[in-house]
Amino acid sequence: DTTTKPDARWHIGVIGGSGLYEHGVLEEAQEIRVASAFGEPSGPITTGYVGGVRFSFIARHGTGHRLAPSEINYRANIDALKRCGVTDVLAISAIGSLAEEMAPGDFVVVDQLIDRTLGRERSFFGEGVVAHVPLADPVCPRLSQLAGAAADKAGARVHTGGTYVAIEGPQFSTRAESHMYRQWGGQVIGMTAMPEARLAREAELPYALVGMVTDYDCWRESNADVDIAEILKVMHANADKARALIAGLAGLLPETRPASPIDTVLDTAIVSARENLR
Ligand code: ADE
Repeated sequence: DTTTKPDARWHIGVIGGSGLYEHGVLEEAQEIRVASAFGEPSGPITTGYVGGVRFSFIARHGTGHRLAPSEINYRANIDALKRCGVTDVLAISAIGSLAEEMAPGDFVVVDQLIDRTLGRERSFFGEGVVAHVPLADPVCPRLSQLAGAAADKAGARVHTGGTYVAIEGPQFSTRAESHMYRQWGGQVIGMTAMPEARLAREAELPYALVGMVTDYDCWRESNADVDIAEILKVMHANADKARALIAGLAGLLPETRPASPIDTVLDTAIVSARENLR
């Protein structure tokens, strides 16, 4: 119905770790189970208010970190957030660094993605309905700018922009791969941003990704190769800043949410005949 005015309130969906919302930042918190036509989301959605702004959280790896990057149902997670009425999605995740200047402990507001994942469900379309959404700029500049400012306010060292290489995992990269990704222009590396960003775009949800650098992967001569103990240590040291980022973002959002071109990207992306659509 194009005659009703769109609701101009923000509702931020956050995909990250459970540590982001389990420490009392949410007012009127409620845990809800959301059914998706695309299978099981990673877990329940915890919804509530931060500084008067609605936030809904989902733990990407499930409660107790049960899901490997390849096992996450990215479609169900995005669909569940959409069904909750989320207007924008902020993804927060651990990343490795492929660039000297992006050191462990730093935050990177990712602006480009290279997809090296394999065999993950990466589209809501197909089976009679064909859509080709644009993905040239896979993140929302507006939400990215706000998230970067919130990270900065939280006391993090923030890099604005960075190309993220999404690998399938669960193993880390070989040294040859790590060098190759650097040659490709990759600056950070992780295992979850794809197909998450693709699906957010198809769901007409502006998406921003703040990565927290935990390691230098394995390309750097003077460094020990990445291992999970080091990653967890940096993650724990960063947890307070990540929580402060969420609280700070709530304070930085303008009172009302101006429409984004991403909100209506499907208007010009579906190529199937109208009679095919049910
Ligand atoms: N997540 C955190 N560090 C990583 C790395 N070096 N490679 C892939 N994913 C990561």
